[in-house]
Amino acid sequence: MTQRVLTGITPSGTPHLGNYAGAIRPAVRASTQPDTDAFFFLADYHALIKCEDPQRVARSRLEIAATWIAAGLDPERVTFYRQSDIPEIPEFSWILTCVTNKGLMNRAHAYKASVDQNTAKGVEPDDGINMGLFSYPILMAADILLFNANWVPVGRDQIQHLEMARDIANRFNHLYGQGQTLLTPPYELIDDSVATLPGLDGRKMSKSYDNTIPLFEGGPALLQSAINSIVTDSKLPGEPKEAEGSHLFDLYKAFASDEQAQQFKHELKDGLGWGDAKKKLFELINTELSPMRAIYDDLMAHPERLEDMLLDGAAKARQIATPMIQELRARVGLRSPQQMQQLEQASKKEKVKSVRVASFRGEQGFQFRLFDAADKEVFLSVVFADPKQAGQMSKQLQAGEYRLETAEDVHQLFVQDILVAELTTEQKDRLVAVL
Ligand code: TRP
Repeated sequence: MTQRVLTGITPSGTPHLGNYAGAIRPAVRASTQPDTDAFFFLADYHALIKCEDPQRVARSRLEIAATWIAAGLDPERVTFYRQSDIPEIPEFSWILTCVTNKGLMNRAHAYKASVDQNTAKGVEPDDGINMGLFSYPILMAADILLFNANWVPVGRDQIQHLEMARDIANRFNHLYGQGQTLLTPPYELIDDSVATLPGLDGRKMSKSYDNTIPLFEGGPALLQSAINSIVTDSKLPGEPKEAEGSHLFDLYKAFASDEQAQQFKHELKDGLGWGDAKKKLFELINTELSPMRAIYDDLMAHPERLEDMLLDGAAKARQIATPMIQELRARVGLRSPQQMQQLEQASKKEKVKSVRVASFRGEQGFQFRLFDAADKEVFLSVVFADPKQAGQMSKQLQAGEYRLETAEDVHQLFVQDILVAELTTEQKDRLVAVL
């Protein structure tokens, strides 16, 4: 069965080599798998939470979109769009805000970390925390649930957000689903096999450590000079070098075939100098990146082409989002007169359809059998002397007016304090499921 895979990328900076190897490359590859219906979007509303610099948001939206396309994302195959082009998302986010307990948000790691920092500094707990940060997980739940995504590829730091999305989905279904799963509870997809690249100094490559290697920015020249500044030990050319444990080798491995990596390892052992090793690393990475860089540069020079692609993507996404939000609005009560009738009829029909009763006259008196929608018998009633009473009982039962009393393994079913049947646990579970 086709599974929907959806993920968001927050455009709040310029992508570096670590983002490419750790997120972009594996996601683009995964998007070409059969039986996946992939949705990728720029979480630009999320970017506003952390970044109040409009130029930077605008530029990052372009850079990230161009990077993903350059890295091979096929917008014909994948639905690729900007969050802010889908008005249904913030609309849905508000609806979800109204079913989410504030306590759930109080427990969010990102929010708690900010509060802890403030406490440590001795300022007000909520100092500098905007409502966007506080409600961040709800907007993210809206991103995911609006499209009924099954799987969400994310980093480990996002696991809690997926748990919250499931909680919110279950609560919404419970309140408004009338027994139906309107919102699919989504699960995180964590890929531990992808490379976490070391940065120039050997720590994890990250903007916050200022140790990144640029992806496309600055062209081959900047790539080369960044690679030249990778920190190595002071072994001279000719001295044998141990590949394992050297972060230059880790970077090499992330772009090499197994044979290439083995060969490089031997060359280092045979005394390849670090300067030459860096040249080889540059060649390897640049060979993979240069065709992509050409596409990237071209798109950055023609942002209107990117715009067209993203607007097409938004139109595709809205083919799903628009009917979905209409349904959800109606479910919570924001409905047109026509929808009012439809929903009321549907809820009546559901009841009528979900069970069927067959009454009959047996040797000892009047009885009835209750069948589920698949016409499978749920139980047989006790014997009633009066057919009217049997009829009354079955009618009230179908309207959901019953009470169960459990003693040991027997479940007694009462309607208006009159015993209607004794059920096994299995029968009781089926009854509760249909009525
Ligand atoms: N919170 C994600 C991150 O920081 C970005 C994001 C926003 C997202 N909405 C999403 C990821 C929906 C997956 C699905 O990485």
